Amino acid sequence: MIRLGGQSGCGSDAAAERGAVTESPPAGARGEPALSNRSAGTARGRQSLVLGVTGASGAVFARRLLQLLESDPRVERIHLVVSGSGLKVMREELGIDAGKSSEIPAQLAGGPVAKTLYLLDSDIGASIASGSYPVDGMVVIPCSTGCLAQVAHGISSTLIERAADVCLKERRKLILAVRDTPLSRIHLENMLRADAAGAEIFPIMPAFYHHPKGIDDLVTQFCCRVLAHLGLAQEEQFRWQGPESRSATG
Ligand SMILES: Cc1cc2nc3c(=O)[nH]c(=O)nc-3n(C[C@H](O)[C@H](O)[C@H](O)COP(=O)(O)O)c2cc1C
Repeated sequence: MIRLGGQSGCGSDAAAERGAVTESPPAGARGEPALSNRSAGTARGRQSLVLGVTGASGAVFARRLLQLLESDPRVERIHLVVSGSGLKVMREELGIDAGKSSEIPAQLAGGPVAKTLYLLDSDIGASIASGSYPVDGMVVIPCSTGCLAQVAHGISSTLIERAADVCLKERRKLILAVRDTPLSRIHLENMLRADAAGAEIFPIMPAFYHHPKGIDDLVTQFCCRVLAHLGLAQEEQFRWQGPESRSATG
């Protein structure tokens, strides 16, 4: 396999949504390192990102992306928001059934998290709802066609939708890993609309040319592609160099 060199490695949901734990208090108040006051942009340091998880199939992609972000030293802070439907799908596909929202990050990551803040999707007053709060970009993975529609039409009724809207208006990176099949004309038009507004449509369509050894490999490679588009290229990422390199490397 050919790898990129250089950068480092790659209760009930109702209770959680009701706010068993509401948005975490300000960073300093929790004894966590406060974010430096800075404008968005990757040039000046480690990234602060939003990870939105909505109710499309593919919770395993959210899990792997969170793991990669957690282990990436170029990432300072991850703001994790999961929609009510996202929680349902996580329970269905990953067996996650968190009684408290505070448990969700570690359950999703499959282990302890160090830089992930969990925000309620209903908390429209959370930090990331404002353009004045500095984040470098946002990924919604998996992104439901419902969320796509809301974002494409500037309807910000949840924190995920609002944070995505903020990314567009502030001209920040927004990656929508949409998943559904087949796609209706409405879905396709919404993709064009979101693309025209500055979002990057990144459908969950994994590649096979790297000869994945299994689902984990397939998921990892897809997530590495997403992260490369955030400026966080991963060592684990396969890069196609033509059939001649395959015969050269075995
Ligand atoms: C198990 C399960 C799988 C689903 N898979 C998809 C999917 O792949 N794509 C999609 O657009 N919606 C899917 N849905 C429907 C969405 O969850 C639903 O439209 C929901 O309202 C989206 O809300 P959200 O965007 O706030 O998460 C699924 C729902 C369930 C329960």
